[in-house]
Amino acid sequence: MQVIICDSPEQVGSRAADIIEEHVRRGPAVLGLATGSSPAGTYRELIRRHREEDLSFRDATAFTLDEYAGLPLDHEQSYHSTIRREFLDDVDLPLSRLFTPHGDAEDLRAEAARYDTAIREAGGIHVQLLGIGANGHIGFNEPTSSLTSRTRVKTLARITRSDNARFFPGGEVPQLCLTQGLGTISEARQAVLVAIGSNKAAAVRAMVEGPVSAFCPASVLQLHPRAVVVLDREAASELQLTDYYHRAQELNDRLLAR
Ligand code: F6R
Repeated sequence: MQVIICDSPEQVGSRAADIIEEHVRRGPAVLGLATGSSPAGTYRELIRRHREEDLSFRDATAFTLDEYAGLPLDHEQSYHSTIRREFLDDVDLPLSRLFTPHGDAEDLRAEAARYDTAIREAGGIHVQLLGIGANGHIGFNEPTSSLTSRTRVKTLARITRSDNARFFPGGEVPQLCLTQGLGTISEARQAVLVAIGSNKAAAVRAMVEGPVSAFCPASVLQLHPRAVVVLDREAASELQLTDYYHRAQELNDRLLAR
């Protein structure tokens, strides 16, 4: 696991955007996209590069990580609408190649299986962008999720519902969701997790330096051969080996600059 500690949230967005850009410039890329506040800076930076630096997504395909059950695609708070608002509508990735699980499907289990298969049929995800919940979830894989789980229906944890209540003023956060499983996420060729702020520090510590455990679902990334964790100082504040991560990053940057 590569750990990059940045001076500011803007730098987190820029570092994560560098990794995604590399995949996009290499050829038709299959992107895995997270929603939430953490990746917002990454999307802003990718949009800027699209506008100012000729970065085109016209050949890319995108799969979102998860979706609330019960919400139609065009619901204001669906992750389909969110990803359109925060990223897709501002770049040239065709809407016909944005895939999200359908939260309003009649048979949610069949929809989850269909989505998992669709990812495989697209050739798998090249780069998966992730955020982390304060309880260590990635996607909506809440603590105790199987480390080999596939896309499926999950019950949202209370803390996740209260963290996301801000997006549902006057309404209820759904109880259920569809989420790529930890096994599905682990199949992405590269994973990039971004975390910002001190409320993520304990979860980040458990993910990076704790044991691999279903109790901290993000810790499954310790088993991934190409996982990069990009943090601001606050999210990194409970890590023990910060000196090592800084030194490794410096040497890595020097190697790349050669
Ligand atoms: C969103 C998702 C979640 C969030 C996580 C952090 O698609 O899958 O795992 O990434 O809950 O959310 P924020 O960034 O809003 O703190």
